[in-house]
Formats: sequence, C-alpha cells, structure tokens
Amino acid sequence: MVSEHEVRPAVRSSAQVLVASNRGPVSYTLETDGSLDAKRGGGGLVSGLSAVEDKLWVCAALGDGDREAVRRGVGEPGVRMLDIDAGVHADAYNGIANSVLWFVHHMLYQTPLEPVFDAEFRRQWASFESYNRAFAEALAEEAGQGAAVLVQDYHLALVPGMLRELRPDLRIGHFSHTPWAPVDYFRLLPDDIAEQLLHGILGADRAAFLTRRWADAFIGCCTRILGGTGRTRIGVHGLGADAGFLRRRAHEADVDERMAALREQTGPGRRTIVRVDRTELSKNIVRGLFAYRELLDERPEWRERVVHVAFAYPSRQDLAVYRDYTAEVRRVADEINAVHGTEGWTPVVLHVKDDFARSLAAYRLADVALVNPIRDGMNLVAKEIPVVSDHGCALVLSREAGAYEELGSDAVVVNPYDVSATAAALHEALTMADDERAERTERLAAAAVALPPQQWFLDQLDALRREA
Ligand code: G6P
Repeated sequence: MVSEHEVRPAVRSSAQVLVASNRGPVSYTLETDGSLDAKRGGGGLVSGLSAVEDKLWVCAALGDGDREAVRRGVGEPGVRMLDIDAGVHADAYNGIANSVLWFVHHMLYQTPLEPVFDAEFRRQWASFESYNRAFAEALAEEAGQGAAVLVQDYHLALVPGMLRELRPDLRIGHFSHTPWAPVDYFRLLPDDIAEQLLHGILGADRAAFLTRRWADAFIGCCTRILGGTGRTRIGVHGLGADAGFLRRRAHEADVDERMAALREQTGPGRRTIVRVDRTELSKNIVRGLFAYRELLDERPEWRERVVHVAFAYPSRQDLAVYRDYTAEVRRVADEINAVHGTEGWTPVVLHVKDDFARSLAAYRLADVALVNPIRDGMNLVAKEIPVVSDHGCALVLSREAGAYEELGSDAVVVNPYDVSATAAALHEALTMADDERAERTERLAAAAVALPPQQWFLDQLDALRREA
C-alpha cells in the first residue's frame, strides 16, 4: 500500500520508542511557486512526545502537499510519513474512521436511517484494513528489537494485532483519545467487524484510555462479545493541560492584541460566555446556542449585558454532514443576532477561522466557559480555560465529557441534551459570586494540570515497559 516513490531510510533504523497516528506532527502545503511550506501542529501528543529523545513518529500523508513532500524526500528527522494511496486513505479516514468509528464511539447516529452496513461499507472496510496494514508493516520495519510502540486512536485500531504477528518481540500499547461506546451501542457494528476491532486492540500489551468510564466500556465490550480481555492490560491516563506553555503563550503580544479586539466586539462591561471548539458533530454547538437563546428569552435582564463568544473552527470539511453542521451553527447564530441584536449589542460573536492566539485571548477574558459536548474523550478546553483565566471563570460542563471525571465537582454540570437546564446553568454561572468563582477556578486549574502531557506520555511508556 505504501507507494514505491516513498523514500525509505537507507539503513534500517532501530528506534526504541515509536508512535503511530493518522495525523502527524507536521503537514506540508504545496505553494503556487512549487515550494513546500511545512507547518508544525500542536496538541497533547506533540508536547507529550517532546519528553522522549530517540523516537520515530509514523503518520499518514494527508493531503497533496504531504504526498509531494514524501515523493521529494522532504521530511523531518524522527518522522516517517506513509504515502498511502489517496483513495484508500479517503475510504479509511473519511469512510470508516470519521463516518463509522467516530459515530459509534460518540453515539451520533440517527438510528431510524443509519448506519447502513452494506456492500459499499465492506469495500471501505477493506481499505481500512490495507491502511492499518501499511502502518503495521512500516512499524515492523522501523522498530528496534524489543522497542515500545504506542499506537494512537480508532484510526489504527487494527494495528496492534497486525503488528503483534509481524513482530512478537515488541511492546505494543494502544491509546484511545475518544470515548468508548457502551456495548449495546457498539453492537450496532456487524458482529465480525466488532470482533475484529476488539481483537485488533487486544493485540496490544496495554490498551489505555482517558478516563475510567471509557476503559470500563471497552472492558464491557470485550467481556460481552469475546468473553474477556485476554492478556491485555487496561490503563487510564487522564491527559492534562500544559500549564507552563499555556501561561507563557497566553501573555505574548499577539494575544493581548486579540483581547483588545474582542473587547471591542463584545462592548465594554459586558459579561462573556466563551466556547472554543473544532466544529465536530459531538461538540453540541447548536444546542449551546439554543440554550443561550433561551437565556435571553426567559431572562430578559441579560439582554445587552452578555455576549456569547463562540469559536467554531473547521473540521473534517470533506464530509457533507460536517459542512451542513457548520452551516447550521452559522444559521442559528445569525438568527439570534437578528432577533435579539440591537444597534450597540451583537449577542453572538461567532468566529470560524482557526486562530490560536484569539482562542487564548477568549480564555483569558471569559466569565463563563461553555463546554457541553454530547460525548467527548476528555475536552482540553475545559482544562485550559481555568489555567489561563485572568479573573476566574465559571465552567458549565457536560457530564458526558471525560473532563467531568476530574472537574465535575467544581463545575456547573449539565446534561448536554437538556437545553433548558443548560440555560439555567448559564444563568447560575453568570451570577456566581466573585469569590466563589475565584476559588472554584483555582481548584479547577489545579485538577486540570495534574497530569501534564510529558508526564502523561512517560507514564504510558513506563507502564508498557514494566507490565509487558
Ligand atoms: C479529536 C479526537 C482525537 C482524534 C482527532 C482526529 O481531536 O479527540 O481522538 O485523533 O480528533 O482529528 P482529525 O482532524 O485528524 O480527524
């Protein structure tokens, strides 16, 4: 599956720590003058991995720029990008990972009409297998004797089992960054597919999750469907926020500039309800807007006194259902502004262009943070906001976010489907006394940084070496 153009290292490498994920730490864009522009990504895995010196990151080429980089032999030390056939990758990533596995684990189907597991699904599944095999083969080729291999997420659920067959000497871990579906929902999948996915992950020495709840759901699926988890150990590692990085970055000049611009948009003296998400179907942005609308309808005293600052950054725009969802977010925001807006007050300030400095600016000035996902593996925004908040921030948090396990006791907790209860929670958060808000923010920030990314990664590595 890996194209013959791919440049392989002349000497067989012998990395002792390998990480595999669909999206890698760098991506390339092909510029009009033919040059390649490299962009480095962020996120928990990138900062976690910086703790380890001698490592190799195996990832997929995601777009034309990445593929061109592979063909030209351009790359970063410590990164091997796999040039998997574009059609195979699209089936595996958009067809299976994003449209089936993501939907199952986040429980997103509208079941009267979907899912449909038909011949087209089987065709895409064959691509998913080839794509996983390409990773397993590359890892088998690159890993030194007895090396530790950490495989990330649902995209690569079949890799541990495949790799175990190719290289029984390796210590293999799998980490799920998403929730895991409860068994009755997981069994929407065809029986053989459900078994294959579980066996794939159980090919690892250790399967780890962000919370106890997701680990238990996985164990529940293995027990009901396969009769047990076999020799695989189950771990829980709740990724925390990177306090040092965030606090430093949040006080750079570009963030101050964006704070001033945001204050201009919200108007002086007004309270802010902030949300920052990638526009994923699981983030529940539309119900969040409905709740805000209900707050304005039911409690007119808030009109002109509060602004909902909503950042909804693009995600997975190859999928029509994501594009439609993004359009719905805009439509509802526009409608609220049309109905409630006045000359000097825009009730919803919506931004859809990704801007990290502006996100940090919103984190700093938020009076209330709204984090209300339908289901979420962890949700780092819920952890990051209390860490960088300037004057304390009340957190309205869904009980279906992984972060609820650690932050629930100091948040205003909501059922994400209950719009009226969310509106009431927003009111409660907006009226929280200053000293209580400050105290809660302090405790939230302490809980949020309990397991910083580097320690999170090192703990997994240690456990894998110790327990395997
Ligand atoms: C979210 C999930 C991760 C997942 C990622 C993939 O961030 O929490 O578990 O790996 O989405 O996003 P992508 O943009 O690569 O589809």
